[in-house]
Amino acid sequence: MASVTLGVIGCGGMGSDLARNAQKLEHANVAVVSDLDEKRARTLAEQVKSTYYLDYGALLARDDIDAVLIASPPFMHRQMTEAAADAGKHVFCEKPMAPTVADCDAMTQAVTEAGVKFQIGHVCRYHGTHGKVRELVASGAYGTPTTMIVWRIGGGWGDSHPNWRYKLAESGGTLMEVNAHEIDFMRYVCGDVANVSAIGGTYVQTRHDYPDVTLVSLQFTSGAVGFLQSGNASAIGGYGGRVDCTEGSIDFPAFWGGGATIDTKRFDGEREEIAIGDLDFETPVKAEIRAFVDAILDDTDTAITAADGRAIVEVARAAYRSIEEGGAVISLG
Ligand SMILES: NC(=O)c1ccc[n+]([C@@H]2O[C@H](COP(=O)([O-])OP(=O)(O)OC[C@H]3O[C@@H](n4cnc5c(N)ncnc54)[C@H](O)[C@@H]3O)[C@@H](O)[C@H]2O)c1
Repeated sequence: MASVTLGVIGCGGMGSDLARNAQKLEHANVAVVSDLDEKRARTLAEQVKSTYYLDYGALLARDDIDAVLIASPPFMHRQMTEAAADAGKHVFCEKPMAPTVADCDAMTQAVTEAGVKFQIGHVCRYHGTHGKVRELVASGAYGTPTTMIVWRIGGGWGDSHPNWRYKLAESGGTLMEVNAHEIDFMRYVCGDVANVSAIGGTYVQTRHDYPDVTLVSLQFTSGAVGFLQSGNASAIGGYGGRVDCTEGSIDFPAFWGGGATIDTKRFDGEREEIAIGDLDFETPVKAEIRAFVDAILDDTDTAITAADGRAIVEVARAAYRSIEEGGAVISLG
């Protein structure tokens, strides 16, 4: 196989982004897209010059499709992954892997038994700031992490979003639908999480059936500690963080360009300032699909595995449980 033929399931915002980026790869081709909404399916099919089906089962029945990119609402990821694995297709699944750990386990079993590749769309690993912070920590130049703090807060979904985003059982709530990225980033930098506690509640976004403010404390198996501020109840919002390590600190007050810098300082006084706008990296969605396609062609492990996807869902679920139990410490694993 010199090239991978892809089918895209779900032609909303993210499915369209995945399809358009996949079509730019030299060793991949989007042959079919699928959505229950015909206008969406037809529009995307025209853009990427593919055919379309309303029934994703018809896409899976095609022998020429090697792999699927799943970009449906999170509560559908399990049934679609199981069906795709059953049909012998490799699976790239958008984050969060699924809203429950049980669903993640069923998906893992399905792809393992079918012997197909599985990658989860924790795309932040391919973003400039996230990648640079991880690289700086992994270099060892700052020692080992003691504390990682990340905040990502916003003002809510507004009224234009589909209903599934307001339901914990369908979206996984803010901690999965948004902060799957930040939890993955913290785990990518600091390693596995040993235990979780959280406080929070619903203050502004009463349309949600999940908290709109969540403060999550993490203890990593390394002994490092972490703190995530998550929420949809901030008019100003913000996205940034820092990692303090045994020999120095890395401060990233923002994640995107706009003049922002990553600032580092070692205890010996050495400083570095890295302009985020100058970071050189491939379009992140294109890079993550490239990694998936390469894993298929080279028959290697995928870059971001089912175990990675499950770990994030486990942390988020533990945080929600901790809130219900008044901030109890929940041990994982
Ligand atoms: N990586 C990122 O940065 C990022 C950004 C946005 C969304 N996402 C993820 O992508 C996924 C989709 O999010 P979105 O924003 O594109 O949602 P969306 O609501 O815009 O799109 C979902 C699409 O799935 C379609 N769909 C539903 N049931 C289907 C079925 N049975 N067969 C085929 N299509 C079906 C819907 O009609 C809709 O068009 C979610 O898991 C979300 O968390 C990831």
